[in-house]
Amino acid sequence: MSNISFHQDIATLKEQLAKLSTGYSAAFILCDENTETHCLPLVHEALTNAFVIRVRSGEAHKTLQSCDTIWFALTHRNADRRALLINLGGGVICDMGGFAASCYKRGIDFVHVPTTLLAMVDASVGGKTGVDFDNYKNQIGLFREAAAVLICPAFLTTLDGRQLRSGMAEVIKHYLIADEAAFHAVEQSEKLTYDLALIEKAVRIKSHFTQADPDEQNIRKALNYGHTIGHALESHRLSTDAPLLHGEAIAIGMAVEALIAQHLDMLPEEDAGRVLTVLRRYFDLPVLSTEEISAIIALSAQDKKNAGATRRMALITGIGSYAVDVAVGEEQVREACIWYNNGIS
Ligand SMILES: NC(=O)c1ccc[n+]([C@@H]2O[C@H](COP(=O)([O-])OP(=O)(O)OC[C@H]3O[C@@H](n4cnc5c(N)ncnc54)[C@H](O)[C@@H]3O)[C@@H](O)[C@H]2O)c1
Ligand SMILES: [Zn+2]
Repeated sequence: MSNISFHQDIATLKEQLAKLSTGYSAAFILCDENTETHCLPLVHEALTNAFVIRVRSGEAHKTLQSCDTIWFALTHRNADRRALLINLGGGVICDMGGFAASCYKRGIDFVHVPTTLLAMVDASVGGKTGVDFDNYKNQIGLFREAAAVLICPAFLTTLDGRQLRSGMAEVIKHYLIADEAAFHAVEQSEKLTYDLALIEKAVRIKSHFTQADPDEQNIRKALNYGHTIGHALESHRLSTDAPLLHGEAIAIGMAVEALIAQHLDMLPEEDAGRVLTVLRRYFDLPVLSTEEISAIIALSAQDKKNAGATRRMALITGIGSYAVDVAVGEEQVREACIWYNNGIS
């Protein structure tokens, strides 16, 4: 956590950015067209001498081609090894900027200024950087910590509701694996504000798990709760006319996986009910078609985290507790999908 700072308003974030960048030979700000429009004006004053590097927004541009653009700009502005790259954007900009900075001249420092809820509570924390390659997500990348991560909810005012909810799925996931009181507060709140307290609690959880187990040998796997089923559905929907945002898929994954845990007698029925109730408040949970259930079964069997052909899942065992590497068979997935359909309709 030592590299992460939280800012109630933009003024202190700007102060820290200005101070930070004075230690470098030059500062570069990486943004996409949306963060250039909505976020750069909030911080530009603190970085008047910085060069702006813009890449196109979206997962489709999280590529080596975009890294070319970044490396080209750094090279032609004579960035040396004491230069700093400031990643101002969502998870795409943080992942790709971290990777590009880590390779440029064998590594220059980078700072994350995450501007989406998902990037604040997930992508900017834990040191994973990378780009997609040949349709494989995060195929090329490396672990490297940001010199600093500066978090401020002021950026979220321009983010659309769907993106906010997508980030909220990861917040709920963090609370579910490690913080019953925080989850309870979400259950109780009539109208949620995406404020610093909510974000900070989620960041502390992500940071705790990644620091305790950087190589994902044991407890870091808990962060994959909801992701075996969620990823499978996300991949399947990619090729349809109704793709899901990552968090939307993870919300469905958490619901199905809570039911798997319940039916393995690992999670009390009451707790599974609490999970579904909260998820239904934020997400329009869809009924899964027979075709989708088959796709989930097939794709979850290929999950990178499996041991051979057996699915290995991170499941919750209560609100605020988890188990990792739980073996889950095909029939259990199918049945949980059917219970999920019955539960939401
Ligand atoms: N490194 C990790 O540990 C980790 C963890 C989770 C996710 N990720 C990665 O994060 C990426 C997803 O991140 P994301 O959901 O932030 O997507 P994103 O970066 O594509 O941002 C979503 C959209 O919001 C726009 N945007 C960003 N900030 C804005 C703002 N303040 N106002 C208005 N528009 C804004 C962006 O231009 C983009 O169009 C994926 O590539 C995923 O692999 C990485
Ligand atoms: Zn995720």
